[in-house]
Amino acid sequence: KKVVLAYSGGLDTSAIIPWLKEQYDCEVVAFVADVGQGAEELIGVEDKAKQSGASACYVVDLKEAFVADYVNPILQTGALYEGTYLLGTAMARPIIAKAQVELALEIGADAVSHGCTGKGNDQVRFESTYAALAPQLSVIAPWREWTMQSRTDLLNYLASKNIPCSASAEKIYSRDANAWHISHEGGELEDPWCEPTEQVWTWSKSPELAPDKAQYVSLGYQAGVLTSVDGQQLSPYDALNQLNEIAAEHGVGRIDIVENRLVGMKSRGCYETPGGTVINAGLRGLETMVLDKASFKLREQLGLEFSHVLYDGRWFTPVAKALLAASQSLAEPLTGEVVVKLYKGQATVTQRQSVNSLYSEAFSTFEEDEVYNQKHAEGFIRLFSLSSRIAATAKE
Ligand code: ARG
Ligand code: SIN
Repeated sequence: KKVVLAYSGGLDTSAIIPWLKEQYDCEVVAFVADVGQGAEELIGVEDKAKQSGASACYVVDLKEAFVADYVNPILQTGALYEGTYLLGTAMARPIIAKAQVELALEIGADAVSHGCTGKGNDQVRFESTYAALAPQLSVIAPWREWTMQSRTDLLNYLASKNIPCSASAEKIYSRDANAWHISHEGGELEDPWCEPTEQVWTWSKSPELAPDKAQYVSLGYQAGVLTSVDGQQLSPYDALNQLNEIAAEHGVGRIDIVENRLVGMKSRGCYETPGGTVINAGLRGLETMVLDKASFKLREQLGLEFSHVLYDGRWFTPVAKALLAASQSLAEPLTGEVVVKLYKGQATVTQRQSVNSLYSEAFSTFEEDEVYNQKHAEGFIRLFSLSSRIAATAKE
């Protein structure tokens, strides 16, 4: 028997390798998705996996595909979970699980496994992807099976198997990183009355320590996709990376929220999405120039709907496909340039222009105009409010 494990090199998945071998008498193949989580997690990960007992370790580079095929289309929907969360973890799960399934099928594995707990969203996201793409594979979720409860239990287990491990008992936060974001949960953050200390944040500068001078960054979009930063054409992944660097320096993109998990409980999380916050602000700014009122409203509705579809792990479903197609259609005219000002944690749109702009100063000016006849508004309002007029008269 052969199991492909979504492996990160962290404590949980390191313990899962020997546990699977022991419980299922199987060969364990480690699968690592490079979604831009960075060198710290990736360097030496193959050796680590083998030291833990994996028969092989595959690291698959998904960085460009993640940004081009997941992040960018999702941005077009305008999805923002519960009004604040840019969905960084939820975005990455479908591409990771898909690549894991592909490896499992390629090497003829019988099962797939992951390190998600039985309390969270991620188990749903992984397993919904497995179900949609390869329902024949068995699924093993160790956290729902074993009796280990804490980091200390896992460390003791690894020690009993003579597996070297650099993790310590007091690494308190649960973090998930990729090119788009990093999440922080657990530790003292479990108390929603406890303000996160600087130990929590790992990526961006604190707004208090950010430069006193604002920085302006110019973003070029083509059909709703970011294609240039400060006039320089960049690949989707490079553009995101460049903005991550600039925005992190200004403390942009931190949020501290309490959210509703799919499984019914609330959780408290802190998130850093530096570049993403800027790209999102820019695209939303461009929309204001280009989308008419009805299109804008539809885009808002699509974003709300999609935020739940994605959060809930329903990427490989007809409803996700339909929402993405509609959002892409609305994004077609979103070509133009936006300038975003970065200053002490804030990203503010200050300039916007588009070849498809519907903004007409000639019409909206408060000064004298030549194009609009104010008298026309009278008839419009009489009909627009006719039902109110009829209802009020009927009451007399
Ligand atoms: N609460 C966030 C979400 O559901 C982040 C989850 C982080 N996952 C993790 N394995 N640490 O999208
Ligand atoms: C986990 O429980 O594995 C991480 C958090 C989540 O999935 O929501």
